[in-house]
Amino acid sequence: MPRFYLTTAIDYVNSPPHLGTAYEKITADVIARYRRSAGFDTHFLMGADEHSLNVRRKAEEQGLEPLDYCAKMEDVFRAVWAKLDVSYDEFIRTTERRHHLGVRKLLEAIRARGGIYEGAYEGWYCVSCEAFKQEKDLEDGSCPLHRAKPDWITEKNHFFRLSDYRDTLLALYREQPSFIEPETRRNELTNVLEAGLLDLSVSRPGSGWGIPVPFDERSVVYVWFDALMNYLTATGYGTDEDGWDERWPADLHIVGKDITRFHAVIWPAMLMAAGVAIPRQVFGHGFVNFQGERMSKSLGTAVDPLEAADHFGPDPLRLFLVREIQYGQDGDFSWDRFEARYDADLANSLGNLVSRITTMAGRYREGRLEPSARSALPEVAARAVADYHAAMVDLRLHDGAAAAFRIVGAVNEFLTERAPWKLAKDPDAGAALDEALYEAAEATRVAAVLLHPVMPKSTARILERLGGVDGDGVRFDDHAAFEGGRALITRTGEPLWPRLAGGRSGSR
Ligand code: MSP
Repeated sequence: MPRFYLTTAIDYVNSPPHLGTAYEKITADVIARYRRSAGFDTHFLMGADEHSLNVRRKAEEQGLEPLDYCAKMEDVFRAVWAKLDVSYDEFIRTTERRHHLGVRKLLEAIRARGGIYEGAYEGWYCVSCEAFKQEKDLEDGSCPLHRAKPDWITEKNHFFRLSDYRDTLLALYREQPSFIEPETRRNELTNVLEAGLLDLSVSRPGSGWGIPVPFDERSVVYVWFDALMNYLTATGYGTDEDGWDERWPADLHIVGKDITRFHAVIWPAMLMAAGVAIPRQVFGHGFVNFQGERMSKSLGTAVDPLEAADHFGPDPLRLFLVREIQYGQDGDFSWDRFEARYDADLANSLGNLVSRITTMAGRYREGRLEPSARSALPEVAARAVADYHAAMVDLRLHDGAAAAFRIVGAVNEFLTERAPWKLAKDPDAGAALDEALYEAAEATRVAAVLLHPVMPKSTARILERLGGVDGDGVRFDDHAAFEGGRALITRTGEPLWPRLAGGRSGSR
């Protein structure tokens, strides 16, 4: 079975997840679920980035030891991801021993190959970004992302020879453009590389919170150097190396556009410097904005992802994020759009469709639909399935979801045209009724299979009602084709998505 190893960024744990950080995990989960259903031995890694200064400060504010604070936050994060149905296979924390050992090994490997030297850093440092800043990175003296003045620091550090990798990275982007997607991110970073690269300070003085530098125990590893290595240390690098090269390299790193540079410039350079294979692809998604601002706790624009999931479970939220925002670009979240999408796509369209089909199947055919002569629907479904796969493999998740909804739209039209409720009244129209109901049900079943990665729980319920597979066992090879060869046993049930009709606003 082919393997697929994908990761998300590991979050700073100084505040709980918001809809922006959740967006990343949900979209990565859609990709992970897609790959599992496509037959890949999928490994989906997430985690927590704990050695940041802001995390330590937050722990102090709460009167907790940093490790105790982080343990508490691990529970908070895991609970949110569970409620959003994010199906990670592994969760790594940067305070784990396996991570420490792996980080120290990689650092030693880079140093042994001449990639690290001692020097002095004097310049700006933004604690929220945990990044060294040049004058040109600032706007009116502030970090543009956090709107805060960075600290001026002067310290003796160990430096990584990042500047050596400029030409190699430019060649990598040129020769293997899929290494960094989407294209806008590749162009941005090509410009960064063309403007020139500076060597990178990879240690910070002090030994309180962080991973001690193996060859200078009075310093800790720069938090980004430490954090990036999680993808590698989770595979057992430095601790469990039996069969390690089957677990590495990663196939896909999903990260936000603000940190794509770390993943597509610094990370491959670190690996090359240590003689370790580089990941196959980095995808830099856009930001979710709220009221025109990047959603962020520090900017006061955070939306609680659980609030949006509380009412009808995570699926409507997952669908909204996938369908409304072109993957790779920025998009807006608003309660009005969320409710409008819910009513249009789910209550009025897919949910209503499932309920009409199962009700008519029950009433006219006792819930058993025999395969029949074919309409245009199998064609429509086959085209949508092909478009869906092409889009999902390309990480155009929005196009994938849209392809599935094309089937839903076509079935709705088909039912209006065939009007099975009229056929049921005509004693000579038995075969036409069989056909209309069967084809509508079978095409809707295919749409539910395609939407399974996006809405795992509710599509499992749809599949149950349309005589399909059990949700966890969805495999595209077996289930994503219009069958036309076997009877469908249908079941009616409660409405999947009651109409909102402006109803939920009052409860916010
Ligand atoms: N700890 C680093 C990542 C280290 S990865 C080796 C970090 N953490 S973060 O908590 O600030 O962000 C986690 C992820 O959430 C990042 O990929 C970031 O881009 C993403 N997002 C944060 N706010 C976001 C939005 N408003 N919208 C979409 N993604 C957002 O960076």
